[in-house]
Amino acid sequence: MVAAGRALGARYHDPAMRNPDMLAEKLIGPAEIALIQEHPIARALEDKSGATPAYEAAGTAVMMLIRTKFIDEKFQRAVANGARQAVILGAGFDTRAYRFADILKGVKVFEVDSFATQQYKRRRAETEIGTPPANLTYVSIDFNHDKLADVLTRAGWDPAARTFFTWEGVSMYVAENGVRETLRTIANTAPGNTLVMDYTTQAVLDFMKQFPQFGPSKFLDAWGEPWIFGLPDGKEREFFTELGLEPVELFSIFSPDAIKRYLTAPDGTIVGMPPPDARPKLPEEAQSAAAVMSQKGSSFYTLAELAVPEHS
Ligand SMILES: C[S@@+](CC[C@H](N)C(=O)[O-])C[C@H]1O[C@@H](n2cnc3c(N)ncnc32)[C@H](O)[C@@H]1O
Repeated sequence: MVAAGRALGARYHDPAMRNPDMLAEKLIGPAEIALIQEHPIARALEDKSGATPAYEAAGTAVMMLIRTKFIDEKFQRAVANGARQAVILGAGFDTRAYRFADILKGVKVFEVDSFATQQYKRRRAETEIGTPPANLTYVSIDFNHDKLADVLTRAGWDPAARTFFTWEGVSMYVAENGVRETLRTIANTAPGNTLVMDYTTQAVLDFMKQFPQFGPSKFLDAWGEPWIFGLPDGKEREFFTELGLEPVELFSIFSPDAIKRYLTAPDGTIVGMPPPDARPKLPEEAQSAAAVMSQKGSSFYTLAELAVPEHS
């Protein structure tokens, strides 16, 4: 679904404003669209007429546009600043090993994911994009059961070499212990390493449970992939610092800042945002719950850049 969102966002007319993942569309063929057929993004991708996509399809595409651009920027910067290893956790249909092949010469890339998803992605990428780059190693893991440090070390990851980690679109699917263990492991790697990840908060999970018709949970639950973990509301920074990671930037994905930074063209046009009148109207009860959520300072979805500080 998220790769479909990238594919849709990569079709925007203006090359400077579109989702830079131009390979996503290659990975999403009829068989993949069939897997997500309940979601409006499936119909939006099939429709080549240029019509405005349905609200949830457009929303997924803009969310992915912001997410891809933010993480791409951090990824490129980390490599420019000397990262010699890139570890892409929960890689799914991530294409960065291919898209950034030029800057990744001399950088080892590890795609770490659950075995079945990874096998599927490998087959798809090899057929549609081509032979994987020689510096790419595929590693399987279950974040709820396996120890990341063991898995990476067995795969040839060098703890002494500067590493950039991404954990994109994964923390909400993993149980709290698995999230904490993974973050603690990264926090114990070499100072100067960085991680970019995203997360939701507990209040959002509560809202989704109470009003499953508004938001992604009606699809995710039906697919057996529910969101199960959210950070404690208003205590996100503390959550990371207690685990030993230093928050560098916490960036709310639907904030005015995100719209300005990633969706606003130089002429002031905002790309991709679904028109306000297309937004499904929340019943009063849901509006009050949403208001409580925003009073608690919960943002629906946050991108985070975190750094490993000097160990005390
Ligand atoms: C929504 S996808 C995101 C994929 C990719 N990072 C992206 O943004 O396109 C969630 C990913 O998390 C992985 N995942 C979820 N729970 C996992 C677990 N317990 N162990 C390993 N991988 C897991 C899935 O296999 C999948 O690749």
